[in-house]
Amino acid sequence: MSAAGEVTESVRSEGDRQSGSNVRRGGRSFMIAFYAALRAIKLYPLEHSAVQKTLAELAQVAEELRAEEEELEFRVSGEFIFINSTRLRLDLSNYATFGHILTLCKLSGIGAIHVGPHGAARDWTFLLSLLGGETQSAPAERYKEIVSRLTEAKIETFQLDAPTETQTDREFNEEAKAAANRTYSQSVAVTKDVINSVRIGKTPNIRKIKRVVQGIVDQVLNEETSLIGLTAIRDYDEYTFTHSVNVCIFSIALGRRLGMTKLQLYELGLAALMHDIGKSRVPLDLLQKAGELTDEEWKWMAAHPWLGVLVLFQFRRQQEELSYRAMTVCHEHHMKIDLTGYPKAIRPRQVSLLSKIVSIADGYDAATSRRVYKTEALAPSAVLEEMRDNPRRGLDQVLVKAFINLLGIYPVGTLVVLDTFELAVVSASNQNPDALSRPIIKIISDAQGNRISPPLAVDLAIPEAGGQYARTIIKTADPDRYGITPGDYLL
Ligand SMILES: [Fe+2]
Ligand SMILES: [Fe+2]
Repeated sequence: MSAAGEVTESVRSEGDRQSGSNVRRGGRSFMIAFYAALRAIKLYPLEHSAVQKTLAELAQVAEELRAEEEELEFRVSGEFIFINSTRLRLDLSNYATFGHILTLCKLSGIGAIHVGPHGAARDWTFLLSLLGGETQSAPAERYKEIVSRLTEAKIETFQLDAPTETQTDREFNEEAKAAANRTYSQSVAVTKDVINSVRIGKTPNIRKIKRVVQGIVDQVLNEETSLIGLTAIRDYDEYTFTHSVNVCIFSIALGRRLGMTKLQLYELGLAALMHDIGKSRVPLDLLQKAGELTDEEWKWMAAHPWLGVLVLFQFRRQQEELSYRAMTVCHEHHMKIDLTGYPKAIRPRQVSLLSKIVSIADGYDAATSRRVYKTEALAPSAVLEEMRDNPRRGLDQVLVKAFINLLGIYPVGTLVVLDTFELAVVSASNQNPDALSRPIIKIISDAQGNRISPPLAVDLAIPEAGGQYARTIIKTADPDRYGITPGDYLL
């Protein structure tokens, strides 16, 4: 196998390998110790015992990991952190830690830190003080300053590299994107099959549905950015199917932010994918009707929540069962928290957490999509704003906040105008919660309106010299006015 092939192979089987999981475990401890030391330095004077203790611990954890693996390289690439080429997984417990370190490295212009043998606590103190210090310099200058300060102090434990995209990163990113594409298109195909089967009175294969949801949960846990990016590529003709898949992706990603376990995410995903299954019992011409619905037609439409419960109930003929939670979500996803909405609640009830999550994902996807009867799709940022500010939407505000934290103020696929008068499409949100309005963008035209091809990728959260930002979003723009399909820039 070629070297490149081996790299791809190691990316693919990541997680299966014992060595990978050892590095991951050790890497996580290293990151936690790193973060604890940074915090201690920020809070106390250097001679304080808390600082001394955390730095001694960091030096020890690093040395143990280095000795075990025979090397220690800490590297950041995009939104990922690698220890000796193994990517560390981001989860709720380490979200703040990883996000903070990632931002610090970006702002310091550091791509990688190689840690040599027997690094002393003193060496770490010096490095971390430099990293955590206030600065007005741009990342590239900051990097040079840190390197020369280390040289002056004759600290040879660390060798720093500026950010470079290595072969492994490129392959990793491509592999991650390809995996997300596969998951997405398989999910749409199976959903299409399920909805069409129910429409002609057949019972779909539940195992297939469960596999799809498992695939989405795994993908979100492994690398959610690519999959969330795909939700923004809206296919007008396939709305019914992509809508269910998108709602499933958003719900799982939101559930993950709320700290749900893998099993809970799976239940949530299943319910989300099936939330509109009742629509397959509503006549097609009614679903696609362009004009206003008559009272009679609206009754049909508004019946889809409980029709969905019936469909799921009939699935029980198979050995495999769909949980009652999925039925609850079918029933409740158009109820509002004040119990207006439909169907009317007969007696007081609490809308379930899963239903609240799904109704946020559902509302967002429906409002940002274009459909036969709705030619205008709203800008994603305007939809989020409305979800937050309009109480009549009847959404749970804490969950809406978490949703905005997930997608950023300018979600993927938003067309934005910058203060430089350049035009850009948002391609990913920033992991750093302080950078909600500073996503990663692709600049598609210059100030004069000339197209830039290929588009220029820029992380808006990285400042220039003097701590100033070179570009800031000033407003969102209507893609139709510019004849642009944002989805074209996300593939
Ligand atoms: Fe619905
Ligand atoms: Fe829906």
